[in-house]
Amino acid sequence: MTDRYAVIGNPIGFSKSPLIHGMFAQACGQDMEYTAIEGPPGGFAGAVDAFRALGGKGLNITAPFKLDAFAYATERSERAQLAGAANAMKFDGERVVAENFDGVGLVRDVTHNLGCQLQGKRVLLLGAGGAARGALLPFLAQAPAELVIANRTVARALELQAMGAAQANVRGCGYSDLAGQTFDVVFNATSASLRAELPPVPASVFAPGCLAYELAYGKGLTPFLRLAQNAGTRRLADGVGMLVEQAAEAFAWWRGVRPDTRAAIERITIALV
Ligand code: ATR
Repeated sequence: MTDRYAVIGNPIGFSKSPLIHGMFAQACGQDMEYTAIEGPPGGFAGAVDAFRALGGKGLNITAPFKLDAFAYATERSERAQLAGAANAMKFDGERVVAENFDGVGLVRDVTHNLGCQLQGKRVLLLGAGGAARGALLPFLAQAPAELVIANRTVARALELQAMGAAQANVRGCGYSDLAGQTFDVVFNATSASLRAELPPVPASVFAPGCLAYELAYGKGLTPFLRLAQNAGTRRLADGVGMLVEQAAEAFAWWRGVRPDTRAAIERITIALV
């Protein structure tokens, strides 16, 4: 029997997940279907109950439901607990297991696809919301020389610093504290790009040879990437690879086989320059 999976979010019309998982299923010879569900505002649990009643095996979760998914689960992986949010669920009878693959997907894209190791590097993370939180521990697992988290609301950056403090050289700060500092990799994990806004990061943070990585995808050359480019940065990336890699992690978790990600990344990549 064909196993059923879906992505749930609102809005969901532009989601690339059905395309990505469709490619994975075909390449791996898996008998499964993968659809998109527009969850009604405030109606996440009802929509998931209905999907499970029809035999659904697993879901990906996107905005605005990642916290609802975390609350809905009966079991939560360590990384979901650390992120405080879920982006994938697996259903097994009454059991609902929550996972979060965003951070590991990001790290795999950077280290594997872009060939940029984080070990020993000076890393700057912009933002301290859900996206930054999910990336924190996967970044620290790579043993960067330092991890600086800059946020508009400094208290939130300091919260992340406290979450990671036991593990490494982590520091939270405001944007103005970045003057005079340079970094080997700069990640924009703020939601500013979704509104074509620029976080107030000084253009001087990009060290020669720096990688500037925008976690949002499909937005082309965002104000952040343009700032990096104007500062002389040649290595620019958006979150397409992260999206495909987190999908591959979920697929492997559900199906027990890890798909190759190259074809899907090529299919949905929009040239940045
Ligand atoms: P997400 O789940 O996408 O991370 P979030 O949890 O609402 O969304 O967090 C949004 C992040 O983007 C926050 O770090 C926010 O900064 P504040 O904590 O100070 O609000 C950041 N952000 C959003 N718009 C921004 C802007 N125009 N400039 C700088 N930071 C911005």
